[in-house]
Amino acid sequence: MIRRIAINTGGGDAPGLNAVIRAVALSALNRGWEVFGIRYGYEGLLTDDEDAIVPLTRDAVRGIGHLGGTILGTTNRADPFHFPVLEGGRKVPRDLSGKLIARFKELGFDALVALGGDGSMSLAHRLLGCGLPRVIGVPKTIDNDLKGTNVTFGFATAVETTTEALDRLHSTAQAHRRVMVVEVMGRHAGWIALYSGIAGGADVILIPEIPYNINRVCEKIEERYARKRNFAIVVASEGARDVGGEAIYKEDKDEFRPQPILGGIAERLAKQIEEKTGHEARSVVLGHLQRGGSPCSFDRVLAQRLGSAAVRYLAETDKSGLVAQRGGDIELIPLSEVSTGTRFVDLSSDAITTARDIGICFGDEGPGTFSAAAAIKKR
Ligand code: F6P
Repeated sequence: MIRRIAINTGGGDAPGLNAVIRAVALSALNRGWEVFGIRYGYEGLLTDDEDAIVPLTRDAVRGIGHLGGTILGTTNRADPFHFPVLEGGRKVPRDLSGKLIARFKELGFDALVALGGDGSMSLAHRLLGCGLPRVIGVPKTIDNDLKGTNVTFGFATAVETTTEALDRLHSTAQAHRRVMVVEVMGRHAGWIALYSGIAGGADVILIPEIPYNINRVCEKIEERYARKRNFAIVVASEGARDVGGEAIYKEDKDEFRPQPILGGIAERLAKQIEEKTGHEARSVVLGHLQRGGSPCSFDRVLAQRLGSAAVRYLAETDKSGLVAQRGGDIELIPLSEVSTGTRFVDLSSDAITTARDIGICFGDEGPGTFSAAAAIKKR
């Protein structure tokens, strides 16, 4: 019997976290359960800070559904199996999973609702194996790259924000006859680039799933200028790479981050395009703008459906798992299905075909790219 549950939010924030927190809290409170928030991912269970566990009463979740960020705070440096502990003036990694589970039980929690992406789900899965009573995961990430679900909350809002940016960049690109290269988030999956690029009328979309050839990209740009469309918009996913090359990472010396930081592709591309085509090019990195702000209505609804489904699965089954949207419905799937790997863009999907059909270039040899390219003088 569930009586008392905890919620945490881990990894990078995404619009919709607060809507899930509210939906979980209200659905649980309406069943007569007690609900608590753990601050900063798993960190709140591992510190002596007395504010680290927050009662989520009706008052505490009132008016938060439309707010960005998370009222609980989040972190991507609180892996309990590799937790940074200050010893002798420096941080050393320690396995505090046993301490975490003991604290969870001491607080009387029957289950955890964990809002997160692949990193958080893999931690939840490991903690279950180590004795955490029950976990229901809720799929969060603007990257939309979580396995097992066909959508994550936060993605639609990130696509909206990026599309708006592309709309704005069109006018300045046109005014100056420039090529604008826009770097978007997504890690090693191209979902944000693909969807915002289609919605925002990009000429070129570069995604990690399709390694690009810079000469193809330049041919597409030349083709536009040859047709007197004297500007071009290139959307590049931060994880995009050229044929035979690697993704570009920023220097990062933090050993407690689960993954190194990507970045720099737009600047590299803008330089190459300018050199090869002679057309002035500028780079823009949208960065964390894509994660901030209010969730769009689609994400608000999805977040609440997932949050209330999480509570229903706790009430009506004795299972752990991830609430995932498959087809139109929400199902509970095993955490083992989602805790490893990345959900990449399916290259045979109709989104890719649509983009090719309307003449968007992916920088490869694919069908529909550069039909007029042969007529254009190469540099
Ligand atoms: O996973 C979400 C995400 O926004 C990625 O798209 C991006 O690469 C990363 O997080 C950035 O992380 P941070 O907020 O730590 O810079």
